[in-house]
Amino acid sequence: MNGRLIIAIDGPSAAGKGTLARRLAAHFGLPHLDTGLLYRVVGVKSHRTGQAPAEIAAELQASDLADPELRTDSAGQQASKVAAIPKVRDNLLNFQRKFAYQPSGAVLDGRDVGTVICPDAPVKLFVTASPEARAERRYQELRERGADTIKPRVLAEMAERDRRDSERAAAPLKAAPDAFLLDTSDMDADAAFAAALAFIERKGFRSSGP
Ligand code: DC
Repeated sequence: MNGRLIIAIDGPSAAGKGTLARRLAAHFGLPHLDTGLLYRVVGVKSHRTGQAPAEIAAELQASDLADPELRTDSAGQQASKVAAIPKVRDNLLNFQRKFAYQPSGAVLDGRDVGTVICPDAPVKLFVTASPEARAERRYQELRERGADTIKPRVLAEMAERDRRDSERAAAPLKAAPDAFLLDTSDMDADAAFAAALAFIERKGFRSSGP
């Protein structure tokens, strides 16, 4: 191993970063944090209770991340709205840094992991795909879960969330200058994993497992 391995994965929704993050974490035996879940907890709780988003962010516990409602599209929209509030982002910073800098190393995926949370991470990936490819994946995922929706609506909601996440002043979605760009529009999960792994191995990191 070439020092502590922290893998920072950023990119827009449904580009394949979650699947990639889980596979890389399993391969290297590292803990994984989906940072989007933190914003989802804040968005859903503030919507449900009326409590100030920054206060919820300051009190967040790891046990809050298990709520199945966090996976819905409306939770994603609520998350994207509270994610534009600088105080919410500040109050979630320590939780994410503590996770990233644990002695084992870690994998984190989100929007600002390589730019703000761990700017010194030795491995940064920016995973993207065309809006059509991402909307198609998201649509299939929703259909499999039994959700009643249509493709143009999925595309429109995705475009709205992308715009909000990219244009906000606080830690907007963007690739770190030293990130490896991975466009998964024409890749399946295996091909994306192979490309990311080849990049990480070129940096001198290997799995110490069997
Ligand atoms: O990755 P996701 O779809 O679960 O994220 C939900 C929202 O949370 C996303 O639209 C923007 C916000 N987010 C963020 O601002 N910063 C992160 N590191 C992760 C998510």
